[in-house]
Amino acid sequence: MSDFLRRSLLYVPASSEKMLNKARTISSDAVILDLEDSVSPEEKEKARKNVVEYLHERQYEKEVIVRINALNTIWGLKDMMEIIPLSPDGIILPKANEKSVAAYEMIFFSLSGSEREKHTSLIPLLETAEGISDARQILSSSGLIDAIQLGAEDLARDLSVERTREGLEIEFARQSLVYIAKGLKLDVLDTPYTAIHDIEGLRADCMKAKAMGFTGKVCIHPSHVDVINEIFSPSEAEISEAGKIISAYEDARKDGKGAVSYNGKMIDLPILQRAENLIARNNLIQNRR
Ligand code: COA
Ligand code: MG
Repeated sequence: MSDFLRRSLLYVPASSEKMLNKARTISSDAVILDLEDSVSPEEKEKARKNVVEYLHERQYEKEVIVRINALNTIWGLKDMMEIIPLSPDGIILPKANEKSVAAYEMIFFSLSGSEREKHTSLIPLLETAEGISDARQILSSSGLIDAIQLGAEDLARDLSVERTREGLEIEFARQSLVYIAKGLKLDVLDTPYTAIHDIEGLRADCMKAKAMGFTGKVCIHPSHVDVINEIFSPSEAEISEAGKIISAYEDARKDGKGAVSYNGKMIDLPILQRAENLIARNNLIQNRR
């Protein structure tokens, strides 16, 4: 799990100077400078130069993550060689599998040396049937990993299925990644919602992902950021309820009880701890503002 708050993470095609500038004005928790599939082969070099410049300038307050090209492409190694020495906060490794994470780690340490001051976290992008099935081995194979992202579009291609608004085709991937990531104490980031103008569909998709256990969601358009931030933050009602649960539990403890009934429901230790976690997350969000 990272120290960064990662509710919303905005992908920006690194070939577009216009969008790179625009991203500075957007209130996403993180920005993901993309070198991979949103950049055409003709623009790969220019996009990499833009990322290098962006990282050099260091004119940013939020977490900056770079999605490099896969290491079995002609661009992946060069991406690493130019970008790792500039210490971005994180790297997203697309189409990750056990081999590519091992290769990444080896190259990472050869480029960064042992005297590195700043940690660059690794976020494997799991978006193939192989990646989802091997997720536990992949994610426990490197100490650099502090989060994962699900990628549903490539996964649907790999499975030869259509993407739907309801997302039944990615239900297994979503649920298993949440269990595996939570077991390893990693942030777990949901796939982007690609229907740019369907804000109600986005809201439903976020609520579903949050209910399943995702900690945040990546997005591809600035108009999605506020909805994601809202849904991945505790609501006023949740905060007030958590406060009441904590008081009711404290009163019960004073009477020597470990469980108490509150509003017709039982409260015991795990319910208290959930309430405390929610308050802690809210404090983290408030402190960021
Ligand atoms: N990051 C930063 N700015 C963005 C943006 C993004 N991801 N997407 C759109 N914008 C900007 C546009 O440049 C435009 O700016 P302006 O108001 O200053 O002119 C504004 O937001 C509104 O954009 P809009 O006209 O609605 O969209 P578009 O047609 O310009 O772009 C996409 C649509 C899909 C091409 C664009 O959102 C995009 O490239 N998204 C990222 C794709 C990506 O990274 N995919 C890989 C990860 S899955
Ligand atoms: Mg992909």
